[in-house]
Amino acid sequence: MRKPFIVANWKMHKTVQESVSFVKAIRDHLPDPKKVEVGIAGQAFALYSMKEAAGKSGLRIIAQNGAPQLSGPFTGEISMRGLSQAGVSHVMLGHIERRRLFNETNEAVHQKVETAIATGLTPIICTDETMVQREMNGEIHYVLKQLQSVLHGVSLDQIRDVIISYEPSWAVGVGQRANTALAEEGCRQIRRMIADVYTYEIADKIRILYGGSVNPKNIQEIMSKPDIDGVLIGRASLDVDNFLAMANYQ
Ligand code: G3H
Repeated sequence: MRKPFIVANWKMHKTVQESVSFVKAIRDHLPDPKKVEVGIAGQAFALYSMKEAAGKSGLRIIAQNGAPQLSGPFTGEISMRGLSQAGVSHVMLGHIERRRLFNETNEAVHQKVETAIATGLTPIICTDETMVQREMNGEIHYVLKQLQSVLHGVSLDQIRDVIISYEPSWAVGVGQRANTALAEEGCRQIRRMIADVYTYEIADKIRILYGGSVNPKNIQEIMSKPDIDGVLIGRASLDVDNFLAMANYQ
């Protein structure tokens, strides 16, 4: 059984104080971490304080990005080794906004995945896809090619701990009802590709999240789909009540 993973991506919202207050407000109301995993990807400067505020709640503290290099003269970059030592457990890599706004390439995301694994962080590899790409292909070849390129060289042992997120750009930030059938189909095809490239056993174990306009009203329907193991939530995760409603969707 794949454990559901509910992840908030706060993007460039919330100060340290706002982040810590939020964590304190939710930490005693989270689901049993043995049944459902919950995490928040906050801004880098707040992660250590969020980890302290989370206490023994089991809340996962997640980075939104990290540098491909281990350390060195890279002014302004965020070291994954440092993130790991600050209590961060996961790092999101290749989010659609990183790819579109900051020109991150598959090769750059690939290097970051290797660094995450080397520093003990679990990568959450994000993919993106436009409606045009989806309609042109009928299937999600674009995302599958993107993933194959990012995962190139990632070994059988390493892939076991990787998490993948399917985020069609036409569903991100639009606030409309997510198309659950297309979301499930995207996650299903990614799982099939993992089975082809790795093994059925790994494809059966790997967690695939869906991101794009998830909210308290649609989360149950989305999470009822067999190939969707969790969600990456942007806008709707910024409010305590909404977030708790989604974390406790079961
Ligand atoms: O990482 C989260 C995604 O970008 C989804 O954002 O829930 O605001 O559509 P959204």
